[in-house]
Amino acid sequence: MKIFLDTANLDTIRMYNDMGLVDGITTNPSLLAKEGGDPQKTMEEISRIIKGDVSLEVVSTDYDGMMEEGRQLRKYGDNVIVKCPMTGEGLKACKSLTAEGIPVNITLVFSPNQALLAAKAGAKYVSPFIGRLDDIGHTGMDLIKEIKQIFGNYDFKTQILVASIRHPQHVVDAGKIGADVVTVPAVVLGKMLNHTLTDKGLKAFLDDWEKLKSESPSVEV
Ligand code: E4P
Repeated sequence: MKIFLDTANLDTIRMYNDMGLVDGITTNPSLLAKEGGDPQKTMEEISRIIKGDVSLEVVSTDYDGMMEEGRQLRKYGDNVIVKCPMTGEGLKACKSLTAEGIPVNITLVFSPNQALLAAKAGAKYVSPFIGRLDDIGHTGMDLIKEIKQIFGNYDFKTQILVASIRHPQHVVDAGKIGADVVTVPAVVLGKMLNHTLTDKGLKAFLDDWEKLKSESPSVEV
């Protein structure tokens, strides 16, 4: 399973990329707004830092606008995936951009049928937002199971990119289902990385080492 980072924060991206944990990035207008500054420069910089797929979202809602924006965004790098909304215009742009060799991520997917249509339109990725479904009382992960089954039945090549992840258990569940990608906020990646028993265990090892050192002056480290 690939791990994408769901952020537009350059420091966070660099930090986790240096650990070898970032297979790709997803951004959206809200994440860019959170960082402030020039969003175009930020998107360009992210595409430069990360070697894997970087999803950059269009803000036009009509076909022509999405096509123009998609082509512009793709100029930032061959790793740019154009993110289009799950609308009729978005799917039309998906079909055309894909035909031009520009891969597309269809975002804001909330049902198996929407995912099916995105796959039919040739999307490289489909992004079901599971956390937002949980928020309204559904079990978002059920959607991932359904999409996985449908795509498997017909051998669709579209990858399932599990989005709107809220906690580490979402990642575990997505992995058990066999989703292709999870895109995680930095806070969730931090929680995946750390464990109180690791911290406690490391402290005990270092304390014991210090004790040993004080009793054996020849030990240098
Ligand atoms: C995915 O591409 C989106 O950027 C993201 O996962 C949305 O998550 P949210 O529901 O936490 O805003």
